[in-house]
Amino acid sequence: MTSKELRQKYLDFFKEKEHAIIPSAPVVPENDPTVLFTTAGMHPLVPFLMGEKHPKGTRLANVQKCVRTVDIDEVGDNRHLTFFEMLGNWSLGDYFKREAIEWSFEFITSEKWLGLDPRRLYVTVFAGDEDAVRDEESIRIWQDQFAKVGIKAEAAGEDRMVNYEKRIVPLGKDDNWWGPAGETGPCGPCTEMFYDVSPELGDVNDTFANLVKDFRFMEIWNDVFMEFNKKADATFEKMAQQNVDTGMGLERTLVVMTGKDNVFDTEFFQPIIRKIEELSGKSYDDEESKVPMRIVSDHLKAATFMIADGVSPSNVERGYVLRRLIRRAVRQGKILGIEGNFTSKIAEVVILEYKDVYPELGRETKKIIEALNQEEVKFRETLEKGLKKIKEIIAESRSAERISGEKAFYLFSTYGFPLELTKEIAREHNVAVDEEEFHDEFKKHQELSRTVSAGMFKGGLADAGEMAAKLHTATHLLLAALRKVLGEHVSQKGSNITGERLRLDFSHEKKMTPEEISEVEKLVNVAIEKNIPVKCEEMTLDKAQKSGALGVFGEKYGDKVKVYDIESFSKEICGGPHATSTGELGKFKITKEEASSAGVRRIKAVLG
Ligand code: SER
Repeated sequence: MTSKELRQKYLDFFKEKEHAIIPSAPVVPENDPTVLFTTAGMHPLVPFLMGEKHPKGTRLANVQKCVRTVDIDEVGDNRHLTFFEMLGNWSLGDYFKREAIEWSFEFITSEKWLGLDPRRLYVTVFAGDEDAVRDEESIRIWQDQFAKVGIKAEAAGEDRMVNYEKRIVPLGKDDNWWGPAGETGPCGPCTEMFYDVSPELGDVNDTFANLVKDFRFMEIWNDVFMEFNKKADATFEKMAQQNVDTGMGLERTLVVMTGKDNVFDTEFFQPIIRKIEELSGKSYDDEESKVPMRIVSDHLKAATFMIADGVSPSNVERGYVLRRLIRRAVRQGKILGIEGNFTSKIAEVVILEYKDVYPELGRETKKIIEALNQEEVKFRETLEKGLKKIKEIIAESRSAERISGEKAFYLFSTYGFPLELTKEIAREHNVAVDEEEFHDEFKKHQELSRTVSAGMFKGGLADAGEMAAKLHTATHLLLAALRKVLGEHVSQKGSNITGERLRLDFSHEKKMTPEEISEVEKLVNVAIEKNIPVKCEEMTLDKAQKSGALGVFGEKYGDKVKVYDIESFSKEICGGPHATSTGELGKFKITKEEASSAGVRRIKAVLG
């Protein structure tokens, strides 16, 4: 069976069951701000699941392209993907559990359709909890289906041991409750279908969890009975309309149809993997190359579809996900020894393979190729610089035979080198990496930036924390000085403090002159020399504003705020912490003054 035949069979089957066939929506949801990507076929249908009338009626089916990145780290095993296609059928207040399960069983096992072996089919159902009861109805319906082909099917017990007779497994919400896709919306109990992909291993006799973990069971289809709406207060209300939402994984179903045991051995990936072999000169059969090739093929396929639907690489939201996929692929390509830009060459294969089904790939070819080339060139530059740097570090570290955690962290923060990459390269040079120290360093920086950005030192922090508190006080002095020198129009637009320096963004149209800069420095240093106490008082926001304390516009404050007062110099609403008096700060020096964005300047300064 081919992928084209499988898509067609599914749609034909549900056409026979009086479903209208609807097109795939884009991978970027059109009217749903609650999710970044279309992760299931039900997404674009949410308004109709909630009761709105669909123009095509109450029975729908389609093939939906989906992007799901929660499992990004699993990609490389036999079944996880960031891009996949989902075959789906829906009942909008029409049929419910009986028809949905009967049709799933018929489509999977009937000779006219997939003709899979019902003896290798196992299912899960919802076990019940405080929100909804155990799904006895689905258990009974499944038993009826198996009985039709002479199989006596019972529900597994608490131990979840599965065997030939016990092939219906009740599981909790984590496994057998689907949705909502975002924070709120339609959801409900579900029943999932698994196929035994390795019958040659003998009789099934293990816990359900083990059978899935060992890849013996491949999940292929999920029927969701969407009868609840999850509300913002996390409670569930019964919806007026009882819906069915099903999703059958196209790639995984082709695996079982072709007798394979993993998605990468199917036609969905083989042409892409052949191209990667050609570009790298390596073989997919070679154990070391297998996982990198799987990652490259999955990630670049997802990237191709995302760009076609309008995403471009950036540092936020969808653009960031795209950027991460491309960069991971480039790095894996490097591990495979591919020289030069290759991502767009892989995309060309993806486009060729999929453009008949998804014509937008053909239409957007130019955009896809350009975006990939641009992103790859940009990333390779940092990657090259980072590789040079790591060679220097290795040379310096040779006598110690190890790269310190601090240096590994530097490579990570400055060149975007994940620890695995540093380790990989170090290993090639017979040098180890101090991983524990790297993780300590990582935690320290995380901690520092988190506490600083939340403005919440709880006292007792190490040296770095004390320095940050002093820089924080210096930031208040700086803002006050800027208002004195440049004028009252100056307000804070952003602030960031590391253990070494402060950074303040503020509203001002023009570049500061050298005279203005030294005047500001002087004012701050005079305030430091006067050793003014830094007083802190808690009061209502209203009172703080009336007292003339500065606050950051748009910031959300609680009812009570803290006001830090450096007498006759600065008064600001702020979470703290601060130095206790300005004399502790030492010498203040501006190291940089530059544009940040239109109408906003940025100053970096240190304390000596
Ligand atoms: N929404 C369900 C899923 O994604 C069924 O389509 O599994």
